Amino acid sequence: MILEEGDVLLRPLSIKDTDFLLGIRNDLEFADEFFSDPPSYDFAHNSWLQSAAKNNIELIIEFKSERAGQIRLTDIDYRHQKAQFGIMLARSFQGKGIAFDSSSIFFEYVFRNLPINKIYLELFANNSPAMRLYEKLGFIEEGHLRQEYFKRGEFKDTIRMSVLREEWEKTR
Ligand SMILES: CC(C)(COP(=O)(O)OP(=O)(O)OC[C@H]1O[C@@H](n2cnc3c(N)ncnc32)[C@H](O)[C@@H]1OP(=O)(O)O)[C@@H](O)C(=O)NCCC(=O)NCCS
Repeated sequence: MILEEGDVLLRPLSIKDTDFLLGIRNDLEFADEFFSDPPSYDFAHNSWLQSAAKNNIELIIEFKSERAGQIRLTDIDYRHQKAQFGIMLARSFQGKGIAFDSSSIFFEYVFRNLPINKIYLELFANNSPAMRLYEKLGFIEEGHLRQEYFKRGEFKDTIRMSVLREEWEKTR
């Protein structure tokens, strides 16, 4: 499965992408935005990949044929037609609209082709680049979870957001 539009291409994650992904995951500047703490290890990543391949949609974002990041759907629940969304970009690819374009291409595929009615996510309340991206994509806040995670010596609030298929279709 390859999704392509303009300079953005989304393709299945491969074992050859491990070093690239761990480079982002182990970047301490981002560590505050991820729920899991570094370090991430290649052997753990590769055994996770086995189950991820069965249960999730895990794609690599390429921009002008260069690896730029990862985009994913996890916790796919066909009974209730909902799934959780995640995205991350390597630092040099941020702030260029690549996350917005990749998400738009991905949601178009998901809502048109899969029995998914709702895409949801959780982010730290102070992650403003992510919040701006999700708002622009049409996500709506549905909950504020107080002191949900403990990171670097402090409790952090998280926000849960979602977008429904009918909302997505209206913005197209
Ligand atoms: C969250 C993350 C993916 C956002 O990436 P980004 O590069 O800032 O996102 P983009 O540039 O594609 O989109 C956001 C901006 O582009 C704008 N944009 C780009 N194309 C657009 C379009 N066609 N229409 C509307 N808006 C558009 C957005 O409005 C927004 O602008 P603003 O920040 O000036 O308000 C990135 O910061 C990241 O990887 N962070 C680390 C990991 C992380 O935090 N992941 C989320 C965990 S929940």
